[in-house]
Amino acid sequence: MSIPFIDLKHQHRRLSSRIRENIDRVLKHGAYVMGPEIEKLEQELSSFCGTDHAVACSSGTDALLLSLMALDVGPGDAVLTTPFTFCASAEVISLLQAVPVFVDIDPVTFNLDPSQAAKALQALDKNDPGIHPLPGYRGHKPNSGSGRNAAHSAINTSKLTPRAIISVDLFGLPCDYDALTALAGEHGLWLIVDAAQSFGSLHQERSPCAMGNISCTSFFPAKPLGCYGDGGMCFTRDSKLAELLRSLRVHGQGQSRYDNVRLGLNARMDTLQAAVLLAKMEIFPEELDMRRKAAMKYNRLLSGLPGIVTPKFFPDRQSAWAQYSLLAGDKTHRSRIFNRLKANNIPWAVYYPQPLHLQTAFSYLGYIPGDFPASEDTASRIFSLPMHPYLDPGDQEMIAKVVADL
Ligand SMILES: Cc1ncc(COP(=O)(O)O)c(C=O)c1O
Repeated sequence: MSIPFIDLKHQHRRLSSRIRENIDRVLKHGAYVMGPEIEKLEQELSSFCGTDHAVACSSGTDALLLSLMALDVGPGDAVLTTPFTFCASAEVISLLQAVPVFVDIDPVTFNLDPSQAAKALQALDKNDPGIHPLPGYRGHKPNSGSGRNAAHSAINTSKLTPRAIISVDLFGLPCDYDALTALAGEHGLWLIVDAAQSFGSLHQERSPCAMGNISCTSFFPAKPLGCYGDGGMCFTRDSKLAELLRSLRVHGQGQSRYDNVRLGLNARMDTLQAAVLLAKMEIFPEELDMRRKAAMKYNRLLSGLPGIVTPKFFPDRQSAWAQYSLLAGDKTHRSRIFNRLKANNIPWAVYYPQPLHLQTAFSYLGYIPGDFPASEDTASRIFSLPMHPYLDPGDQEMIAKVVADL
């Protein structure tokens, strides 16, 4: 039997009767949109994360988009983020006609490096790309899209106002929030936490969803807490922002249904997805522990192998282990490992083969290879092995032998 990269079927076998019960309840009451399960989930997850407000929405991408809209980010604004992430983290910035200012990662955590972010802010302030690579300096290169994509006009860097940082907790590991919170505070920036991969993680005993002005997560099926389709959530301590987010997710609704006080989206979570998530939450803390144990076992088996760098455990942070990602010595070493994995029918993945600053969709920013060396080097060496709570220890041993070529 082949080893799944993520085993959702195993989890479903364990939970199927609870999930069916919850779904049946929705089918019975029939409130498919904004049914009672939505509020129940919001209450349960805000208390799980130790924050005040949770606003359920249609996806992690929409959670980020709603957040930027609630903070009124738009043309002329610069938003700092990492180029080593899923496209959504930066896509939402460009969609609102603000400008993503990429900041390289710390090669150990794979997360945005706060010291590089400080340099980027200095470069923006002095309008000096010699301090840190900035968008727009190598000339405007329109990307190949049409419509909104083609609408990106030349970036006037002298007019960019830094407004926010979107930090991304890659693979489930929280960023350095002491440094990022201090930096955002010092420069009067909003901190938006992209916790799409890190729901369930901890930074000094606090959830990243309780940090920043707004935190966003995703319930895409492969995420640590996944639903059976798309879903996401925004978290905040600020009741005004929570109210804005609630309005924006329903077309900018005001006091009543046909009172629209601002432009918004249709970005609600389906009641059925909330029903699934409520069932999954019952075993989520246990699953987090199972993921952590699987990661520890991988590290025991793989640490010290020539050329291999295993992910680091931090005493002050607990990853949600959305992925178990490690580095090969170089691209050739990685290809040799992939050949062996393939020959042994073991799945793997590369998150992410191309940093965002080198992708066509972001070519209009004018970045070039070499702008973010840590992200580029990591992209050429990283790979992820099967990771889920139900990973068989014997399978892990077999996988490790294949990686090690024993
Ligand atoms: C870091 C990051 N941000 C945002 C998203 C977007 O989430 P969704 O797929 O729910 O829209 C993802 C999803 O993969 C992600 O990994």
